[in-house]
Amino acid sequence: MPPDTPIGIHDLAFRTTSLALTHSELARHTGANIAKYHQGIGQYAMSIPAADEDIVTMAAEACTAVLERHGSERLRTLILATETGVDQAKAAGVYVHSLLGLPPQIRVVELKQACYGATAALQFAAALVRQAPDEHVLVVASDIARYDLNSPGEATQGAAAAALLIGAHPAVAALDRISGLHTHDVMDFWRPTYRTTALVDGRKSLDAYLEALEGAWLDHQKRGGLPLQSLHTVCYHQPFTRMANKAHRHLLRLAPTSTRAPDSTALAATTHYNRTVGNSYTASLYLALASLLDHTAGLDDADVGLFSYGSGCVAEFLTARITPGYQQHLRTEEHSAALSARRRVGYDEYRQLHDQSLPTDGSTLHIPGASRNAYRLAGIDAHRRIYCRTVQPTIAPA
Ligand code: HMG
Repeated sequence: MPPDTPIGIHDLAFRTTSLALTHSELARHTGANIAKYHQGIGQYAMSIPAADEDIVTMAAEACTAVLERHGSERLRTLILATETGVDQAKAAGVYVHSLLGLPPQIRVVELKQACYGATAALQFAAALVRQAPDEHVLVVASDIARYDLNSPGEATQGAAAAALLIGAHPAVAALDRISGLHTHDVMDFWRPTYRTTALVDGRKSLDAYLEALEGAWLDHQKRGGLPLQSLHTVCYHQPFTRMANKAHRHLLRLAPTSTRAPDSTALAATTHYNRTVGNSYTASLYLALASLLDHTAGLDDADVGLFSYGSGCVAEFLTARITPGYQQHLRTEEHSAALSARRRVGYDEYRQLHDQSLPTDGSTLHIPGASRNAYRLAGIDAHRRIYCRTVQPTIAPA
């Protein structure tokens, strides 16, 4: 393969849960001023999983969309990135592989590093494609953000899965080989294996995010990465959408004073999905990219920055060049349909779902059908998760 063969995102689809809680409804019960949610953190609603939805069902939804369009013939690797793992040993992607009816000749693995996992998966996928340019790698980022009730993090919950098909001569965006990295041991946000909700030091997490942005950006620049003024905009990891504004202000302070800032309308275009989905952890950055592409015409050959941050912390700054003709490959209507299909829940139903837990003692649980999506968790039996498909996919056979 010629060394300059473009490799990157050939397709990008996201899906979310069947339910949503608006911040107006949350504010009625927390007593917060709604302006704090809408203006202060830039959030309007959050996706809430139904009792029979989890990272596997969301990932299967997103992957089905991609495979219905491209088939599975060239697929040799499926990487599922998550920090909401459902098993300490078995990769959640194996359940997805089974639900999608994929052939056995595929390597499946799970990756974790907080919200950064999907970006590591993207880079590993690009390396695999460089090694075998005829192959596709399916990367799926799937997460559910859950914090304790009445905690500052509660308003930043959310859930979604983003599936990215990585290949040579990508139809959507080619990844630049130069990227900037930053790793630093910090306890800003973490979730020990015995907890279902994350622990977070909110203030420290904001500082750690900005420090990591600075570290990754400076490394990117040192390695000859594109300067800020060459970028149409930057898609940031969005734990809440106002974080993108904070991050962007910080980045501008690091750029030479003569730098013409990318325009703020472009930054706003990256936030449409995350402000009603909430934090989808490792999927969040790719919902920001989908939002930019779905809401912006004329990006042919534009360079876009991508900043990936995962608490703990690992961060990466990379850039992607949007492929001419990308608009023919978008899924704008599907994305908007996935969001508008969610049923709005009231506060009591949200509380009930938040309090619910699955058996940990091997007892059997049958979960009544609640999801409006095609895949559901039907129950737990002898410590085994039982998934089922309510709608047959039309994936082209391998
Ligand atoms: P908080 O204490 O609820 O809120 O915590 P606050 O008092 O800091 O207010 C938030 C903003 O609203 C402030 O804006 C207020 O001024 C404003 P800022 O000063 O920061 O620009 N505000 C108002 N604005 C208009 N009208 C009003 C009003 N009242 C207040 N009436 C916090 C906020 C984000 C800390 C909390 O939600 C939290 O702990 N969230 C979880 C942690 C988090 O999201 N951290 C982000 C960086 S770390 C990260 O991104 C990684 C992560 O995704 C995990 C992973 O990697 O896996 C979290």
